[in-house]
Amino acid sequence: MNVLGIETSCDETAAAVVSEGRIVRSSVVSSQVHLHARYGGVVPEIAGRAHVERIVPAIREAMAEAGLGRPDAVAATYGPGLVGSLLVGLSAAKGLAMAWDVPFVGVNHLEGHLFAPVIEEPDLEWPLVVLLVSGGHTLLVEAAAPGRYRLLGQTLDDAAGEAFDKVARYLGLGYPGGPAIDRAAEEGDPAAFRFPRAMLDGSYDFSFSGLKTAVVRAVERHPSAATSDVAAAFQEAVVDVLVTKAARAVRARGAKGLCLGGGVAANSLLRRRAPQAVDVPTYLPSMAMCTDNAAMVAAAGSFRLAHDGPSPLSLAADPNLFLEVVA
Ligand code: KG4
Ligand code: ZN
Repeated sequence: MNVLGIETSCDETAAAVVSEGRIVRSSVVSSQVHLHARYGGVVPEIAGRAHVERIVPAIREAMAEAGLGRPDAVAATYGPGLVGSLLVGLSAAKGLAMAWDVPFVGVNHLEGHLFAPVIEEPDLEWPLVVLLVSGGHTLLVEAAAPGRYRLLGQTLDDAAGEAFDKVARYLGLGYPGGPAIDRAAEEGDPAAFRFPRAMLDGSYDFSFSGLKTAVVRAVERHPSAATSDVAAAFQEAVVDVLVTKAARAVRARGAKGLCLGGGVAANSLLRRRAPQAVDVPTYLPSMAMCTDNAAMVAAAGSFRLAHDGPSPLSLAADPNLFLEVVA
């Protein structure tokens, strides 16, 4: 069973072919990051237009690389994300499914991220706690098995990646902010500032807007502070909160593993700290599997197709789709 996956929820135009639910035969990601860099964030209008230009070449490349003339099904992200971006991939997927006369299946982007470890880790042991941290989302999820999730907590304000992007912009480190802060922090002293940790005791929810404000106040008070020190202390505070809550969830839920996912899972401090904080295996996806890609969409689509069957061709894009809780 070969599934063509298509992902256009934000600023990556991606297509991939996955066999048997987890064997990646091709994975093409065409990043638009340089188109948005000068604006310091993703511009929806530009993203939608760029997806239109790139989607057919990305699909052609993924199919050619997999050596396929026709897949057995087409999966595409239908939410959450930018509506003008989602519509490009979703419409392409429906059109191709009709032309090839194969099933179409809509995929929740968040569930896609949860399938990244399924692709990369043959020996996953369930239940898992998954920390999904990206530019748009910060979720702590308990996964009893593929497709069975319980949302433990989420952000009350900014997503973790958004906090990285906003602080990086404030510090003049450019876009995207996560990698820029990660790099700057290598030279900095994380103890130079002690930024607040919003632990929200007793809850698995997160809040990062107070931390962002604390960074601005500290820089106003110490204008000559080294940017690398501010970056290191900020990163330390974010990672401290993420790791503390994830480790607490692993213990409380009796999880057999901790998985990281989403773009912020590429953060080098988070990747170092998470395994130290738990005594169960920690699954760290490769950089390519942390960030948006279509292989995870094809894998989640394969699962959904087997589990629920095809989606109707009338399936609409849903910019605010959340992770359905099926415990
Ligand atoms: O998952 P992703 O590619 O797209 C979304 O669905 O949002 O995540 C992108 C986010 C951006 O906010 C980016 O700054 C952040 O992931 N990011 C990082 C790192 N690499 C990417 N954050 C912290 N450290 C990194 N090394
Ligand atoms: Zn994502």
